[in-house]
Amino acid sequence: MTASKTPVAVLISGRGSNFEALHRATREQRLPAEIVLVLSNVPSAAGIERARSLGLPTAVVPSRGAGSRAAHEALVSERIERAGAEWICLAGYMRLLSAEFVAAFENRILNIHPSLLPSFPGLDVQQAALDHGVRVSGCTVHFVDAGLDSGPIVGQRSVPVRSGDDAASLAARILREEHQLYAEALRRLLVEEWRIEGRRVLFGPAHTESREAQPGQVPGDLTEPRTPH
Ligand code: GRF
Repeated sequence: MTASKTPVAVLISGRGSNFEALHRATREQRLPAEIVLVLSNVPSAAGIERARSLGLPTAVVPSRGAGSRAAHEALVSERIERAGAEWICLAGYMRLLSAEFVAAFENRILNIHPSLLPSFPGLDVQQAALDHGVRVSGCTVHFVDAGLDSGPIVGQRSVPVRSGDDAASLAARILREEHQLYAEALRRLLVEEWRIEGRRVLFGPAHTESREAQPGQVPGDLTEPRTPH
């Protein structure tokens, strides 16, 4: 491992496209990190096969049949620590983490979610967004706490909701932004100064005004103001 690269574990349960986007960002020098472990709780996850084919260190720790949540998390922690990971990126990891697990990696666990939190936490969020008639949706990278998609927000990207959208077309539009956002958000946390005040992640030195909210930007939006496409 290169000294200046932060070791990261990525936890998945399925397809793994966000894991791949993170991996690509490390390879293209857009993210000063190295993926030292890809761990799945689902043995058949497509993402774990992809990680193997990329030659990355992988682990499968099945949650089904693992007994208690604590027993499963103990195995997961052990693998993460053995890999030397300093950060954990949840990328479609379909398990809620206990308060104990979160505390053991305090402010070092991120998740990506396909809505503009705090709207639409949980599952089936694109359909929920369509059912509510929202005109804008997007994705959020946030710190993980013991709640459901509820930790402090690191960054967001927005997309328009179009009149002909169904859940699949909206999910695909959001996913393209997810693949950019996750690496951007983690990069900021690795290279910039930041702190958490209340529910807010503030970037920049503590004694100056935060650079978080730029004129014309949604607070937390990591991108330049964009025209809908
Ligand atoms: C993504 O939409 C992510 O936001 C959500 O689960 C999905 C995982 O997709 N948490 P993938 O496995 O990364 O392709």
